[in-house]
Amino acid sequence: MTSPELNRLFDTEQFRASGHALIDALAEQLALELQGNASLIQWQSPLDAEQAWEQEMPEHPVLEPHQLSAWLQQEILPRQLAMHHPHSMAHQAAPPLPLAALADLVASFSNQAMAVYETGPVATLIERQLIRWLSSMIGWTHGTGVLTSGGSQANLTALLAARQTIDPHIWDKGITTVRGPLRILTSALSHYSISRAAGMMGLGTEAVIAVEADAKGRMSIEALRQAHQACIKRDEHVMAVVATAGCTATGSIDPLQAIGEYCRTQGLWLHIDAAHGASALLSTHHGSKLEGIALADSVTWDAHKLLYMPATLSAVLFRDKASSYRAFAQDASYLFHQEDDREIQDFNISARTLECTKRMMGLQLLVAFKLYGRQGLARLIEHVFLLAEQFASLVSQTAGFELLMPPETNIICFRYLGKQALAQGALNRLQANIRQSLLHQGLFHLSQVSIDENTWLRCTLMNPYTQAVHQAELLQHIQQIGDELLSS
Ligand SMILES: Cc1ncc(COP(=O)(O)O)c(C=O)c1O
Repeated sequence: MTSPELNRLFDTEQFRASGHALIDALAEQLALELQGNASLIQWQSPLDAEQAWEQEMPEHPVLEPHQLSAWLQQEILPRQLAMHHPHSMAHQAAPPLPLAALADLVASFSNQAMAVYETGPVATLIERQLIRWLSSMIGWTHGTGVLTSGGSQANLTALLAARQTIDPHIWDKGITTVRGPLRILTSALSHYSISRAAGMMGLGTEAVIAVEADAKGRMSIEALRQAHQACIKRDEHVMAVVATAGCTATGSIDPLQAIGEYCRTQGLWLHIDAAHGASALLSTHHGSKLEGIALADSVTWDAHKLLYMPATLSAVLFRDKASSYRAFAQDASYLFHQEDDREIQDFNISARTLECTKRMMGLQLLVAFKLYGRQGLARLIEHVFLLAEQFASLVSQTAGFELLMPPETNIICFRYLGKQALAQGALNRLQANIRQSLLHQGLFHLSQVSIDENTWLRCTLMNPYTQAVHQAELLQHIQQIGDELLSS
């Protein structure tokens, strides 16, 4: 390779100039989105949209470095779903804090592999610091864990650790060593990653027993007791109870204290999937909603949800250090050196993660804590929880709308009933069609859920800029679209 060729790949000045231009472009986009002046989404069916992307791989450059930022601004940014737009209210992914996103650029640039301490020294120390902070918010003094790429991976890691407590030979010999089937008890409203984990662990998804939830979407403790006793009678091993703090569909929080006490007395591993709700622990106002979380053996916490981090950034936390080593076990002489003492080996993160190479994930969150403190982040969470309460009360006061339940977090489920009574099928289709119309017109981004065969529109008020005026506008659009659909 010639030196000009090399320079083209690693040119410091081009990096500086392109970086400045790019940040300018992103700042412009951020301002447009926050004011609602950027398009929310330019909807096109994926089949049509992909036609423009069926291009040959460039054999030679088709873009000059000085054109990079303009190309991103023209071709990519306008085609995104605008996460900072106040009309973006579908899912739990956050409009990320801009300075956290900036810190994340450092992670890409420095590319710390983080398998062992020496491949990411400061990244490892950041991660350990964050894990200590999050553990202490749960109420654990000696909590430990790792950052993971998403809550699904955190849930899988926790359940792998739980599985080992049934029989330490499972890792080597497989689950066939266990006499009698393994079971996981969780609410009917738990996230699909729990049943997916059961599938991946070779238990089969039918190993997950859905425990009834009450009208507020919370696991019934009586139903849990009955499900557990039924397993004992059938000679089945319950390897974990999974409670949810902030369930995906409704944001409901299971009764953690009661579930925790039951699991303690029965010697059951309790995993709390608090991917959505754990961040409420930062708030002195809402933290008590998760009372009992310290009784868990393991907890999942997503920072890319209510901690407003760019995805993906989650944590799997363990009350007890030995448990955090149960999920995985590997001999890899090229990474883990037997001669290192136990305390030093503890700094080799990949001994406890699914990944070998792992991105320096923690910097963005460390930066957020440093810039805004616990209190600053807590105020943001309190703000969106309040927006959700306000929206729920607007829905319940507006004729023609039905609220599923008052929100415990920032997720609201509701539906438009129309002016005359509709059969269940027609009512369900109406919600789906309203949602689709809002999306296709680029007006609002909502999600939908099906609970007990009823379809509900679902809003997750993640964006602190989604104010009362936007909420009122949403209901007006829904009413108008709904009435048009019903009359056509
Ligand atoms: C309760 C709950 N658990 C787990 C997950 C999965 O998290 P991730 O999307 O980070 O993998 C979600 C995501 O929506 C969730 O709501």
